[in-house]
Amino acid sequence: MADRRPRVWVSQPLFDDVVEQLGQHVDLDMTGEVTRYTPQQLAERLAEVDGALITLNERIGAAEIANAPQLRAIANVGVGYNNLDVEALSAAGILASNTPDVLTETTADLGFALLMATARRITEAERWLRDGQWGQWSFQTLLGADIHGSTLGILGMGRIGQGIARRGALGFGMRVLYHNRSRLPDATEAEVGAQYVDLDTLLAQADHLVLVLPYSASSHHIIDAGALAKMKPTATLVNIARGGIVDEVALADALANGRLAAAGLDVFEGEPTVRPELLALNNIVLTPHIGSASQATRRAMVQLAVDNLTAALGLGPNAGHPPS
Ligand code: DGY
Repeated sequence: MADRRPRVWVSQPLFDDVVEQLGQHVDLDMTGEVTRYTPQQLAERLAEVDGALITLNERIGAAEIANAPQLRAIANVGVGYNNLDVEALSAAGILASNTPDVLTETTADLGFALLMATARRITEAERWLRDGQWGQWSFQTLLGADIHGSTLGILGMGRIGQGIARRGALGFGMRVLYHNRSRLPDATEAEVGAQYVDLDTLLAQADHLVLVLPYSASSHHIIDAGALAKMKPTATLVNIARGGIVDEVALADALANGRLAAAGLDVFEGEPTVRPELLALNNIVLTPHIGSASQATRRAMVQLAVDNLTAALGLGPNAGHPPS
């Protein structure tokens, strides 16, 4: 290791007390305000440091690391890492890490919350009440879809998908179907209470479909007009993965024209911009990418990212043991 102290850039405000643990070993360049960087600003920041703690906002590829000779490690504070060009990083010898596991249950909670809010029209009902439309209690107002006893479809059966399956099967007596690149071992299927089906069967049979798969070229717009047409018109769709998995124009059209009952979206293709076609709809619940946003989980994510960076830079007790 060089005899100077390594430098680490922290791209966004995280939890200062957790990040400052790194200060024992490195010089920290912390960011005090939520910041949006241009590719050039990212390249300038990365040019000066040995390591970086970043979030999903920062898109880092070959161009951003082209002039970063000292950069050895990037710790992404998040489980999804489609913001990183992993091939370019690994070709440059830069270790990339993410924060799986610690956010699984919190994100599954949010997925289920969105499912329930969507099926039972919670935010629509609240808007209606606040708008002063509640003249008299009425039998047929704001009728939604049942959750208990219905069929839950899960597309993407990693850790978060399994968390949602457990909630559905054990908590709400749902029949749980899933589709995934690879089938889970029988024992895991039994434990989470889910049955593997092909994609068309999943689309056709789900009363509530939750998207939890990683975003990649092969999952881009996997839910397009064709896929939506295979779903029940009474079904609800929830996306807590990445916006690009859904063709939002096709989704808005299906929701506006009664070909899908409702949707709950925590992620958007152009976030933080949300398409006006989606904003105009009443049968949609929209949240600003808050899947892992609990106090404890966000803190645990930062701690894991700090540990990952410490190990990758060969500092502290795990020196020499980069994360797998
Ligand atoms: C992740 O970790 O990938 C989430 O989307 C951000 O919390």
